[in-house]
Amino acid sequence: MAITFICPENDTISWITALKTLDPTLDIRVWPGDEPKEEIEMALTWKHPPGTLTEYPNLGCICSMGAGIDHLLADPLLPDPDLPGNPTIVRLVDQRLADNMSEYLLLAVLYHFRQFDFYQAKKEERLWEPILPLEKKEMVIGIMGLGQLGEAAAKRLGETGFPVCGWRNSHKKIDGIQSFHGKGELDNFLSRARILICLLPLTRKTRHILNLDTFSKLPGGAYLINVGRGGHLKEIDLLTALDQKVLSGACLDVFQSEPLPGDHPFWQHPKIMLTPHISSQTNPMSVAPQIVSNLNRLRAGESLLNRVDIKKEY
Ligand code: GLV
Repeated sequence: MAITFICPENDTISWITALKTLDPTLDIRVWPGDEPKEEIEMALTWKHPPGTLTEYPNLGCICSMGAGIDHLLADPLLPDPDLPGNPTIVRLVDQRLADNMSEYLLLAVLYHFRQFDFYQAKKEERLWEPILPLEKKEMVIGIMGLGQLGEAAAKRLGETGFPVCGWRNSHKKIDGIQSFHGKGELDNFLSRARILICLLPLTRKTRHILNLDTFSKLPGGAYLINVGRGGHLKEIDLLTALDQKVLSGACLDVFQSEPLPGDHPFWQHPKIMLTPHISSQTNPMSVAPQIVSNLNRLRAGESLLNRVDIKKEY
């Protein structure tokens, strides 16, 4: 029996090396050259072509090659894991992913808080123009999404001295973090956040949650950091909010269309800092143990780690 990688956009060499280091006996293949399909028991996927996952009659597990599973849900022919006989869907949950994300967010927050965006613009004009520093205790950071990544970031930012609050679907208590949940508490949460971070999973409920109405509920001139998914942001609304000074700037790592098209207005926008979806990249060596462990569990008929709740879409 074998594993296949179905990820046309990704390089698989480092993944195969990491898995083979743990278990040299593994039979690892890469779609589309992964025949015979009956031998495939686990598929590691990232942006697989829709329909391909129906080709494997003995597939027991579909594993996302990242934390998110929205790329899987984009396939209308994705086998329903709640139906008997269908493969279980799992994702990767990794401390290193959480650490990298926290570092990125710390950098983005400090960049704004220490007004590097302002000084970068002044440098272009060759202007020496020191301004007063901002007050840390007033710089409330609001994190939308308090899953593994959101919780780690909240703690890291809190340790640095920023007041942090968080918002999620259902209540979760995290020491030192003011926690809000549900639609009913969203406006209250937003009214505090001078820096709004989006780390939500992309679902039908959260698509376009970053829109002009949301931005107008933040304190005036708030700053946006989107490391969730491009689909969370109504891109045209961000341009309007920046023009109208509802927001003072934004740091974006994810986009509606990736790679970001060359003629997209975000590239040249003086108030937008952007990076090419690198806030937290999966490290194959770090996640290989949980993949091999799930393969062994699958073979032993045990329940798998990091299962996705398909109804919740994450
Ligand atoms: C990256 O975006 C991931 O989902 O891990």
